[in-house]
Amino acid sequence: MTKAKKRHRRRRADIDTPTPPDIVQLIQSRFPLAPVRSVPEIRLHRAGPNSGLSRLADADASFGIPYWAHSWGGGLALARHVLDHPEAVAGKRVLDLGAGSGLVAIAAAMAGARDVIAADVDHYAVVATQLNARANSVVVSTVLGDLTGGAAPDVNVVLVGDLFYEAELARRVTGFLERCVAGGVRVLVGDPRRAFLPVQRLVLLAEYPGGDFGSGAASGTQMNAVYAFG
Ligand SMILES: C[S@@+](CC[C@H](N)C(=O)[O-])C[C@H]1O[C@@H](n2cnc3c(N)ncnc32)[C@H](O)[C@@H]1O
Repeated sequence: MTKAKKRHRRRRADIDTPTPPDIVQLIQSRFPLAPVRSVPEIRLHRAGPNSGLSRLADADASFGIPYWAHSWGGGLALARHVLDHPEAVAGKRVLDLGAGSGLVAIAAAMAGARDVIAADVDHYAVVATQLNARANSVVVSTVLGDLTGGAAPDVNVVLVGDLFYEAELARRVTGFLERCVAGGVRVLVGDPRRAFLPVQRLVLLAEYPGGDFGSGAASGTQMNAVYAFG
């Protein structure tokens, strides 16, 4: 792709969700880009010692838990899986539900997905995804909002990294994924086997070593799983 074409496609992606300049500046200045340990092809804006997370939470009530600034076992495994098995997404229209940093969406775009949409309810996550996509020279469209109450989206594949960490959320996500599968959408789930994982709906496809911020396993020795939801 020529540089001009890339610039054009990036601009198109950026207008999907407004990018408040203060959040852009904040992420760029306090969350340095670093390669992801078990997915080193991808660099992300990460929380570090100088991010000042508690001060940010005090200053902005909407800051919440910065899921987007940490590595989660599910996303690490699913991103690794998509990069190692590009045929899962190549040429397809893909939704990354609960995108966080956009790690899985970026992996799908790198693996040759035709269109990639990343959805999250946290506007910081949406901005982080836009910045991370740009830093990795891929195009990802973003949606700010909760799609789990709606019908199956117009995509071929839904990717879900680490979204079964609360009971009510897991119930809603499971219902949404059931509608997706009924509508002919292929669904892949990455997860470090959290408590609310709907195991009866899942078929194990692969396991990958990686960390998981949620269980304090930063070392990269934990095995995280990728499943087909059916
Ligand atoms: C544990 S993080 C996982 C992020 C990413 N998928 C990964 O694995 O690295 C969960 C993310 O899901 C988002 N989230 C929670 N509920 C959601 C919902 N109903 N719809 C979309 N995103 C949601 C959170 O804001 C957060 O960014």
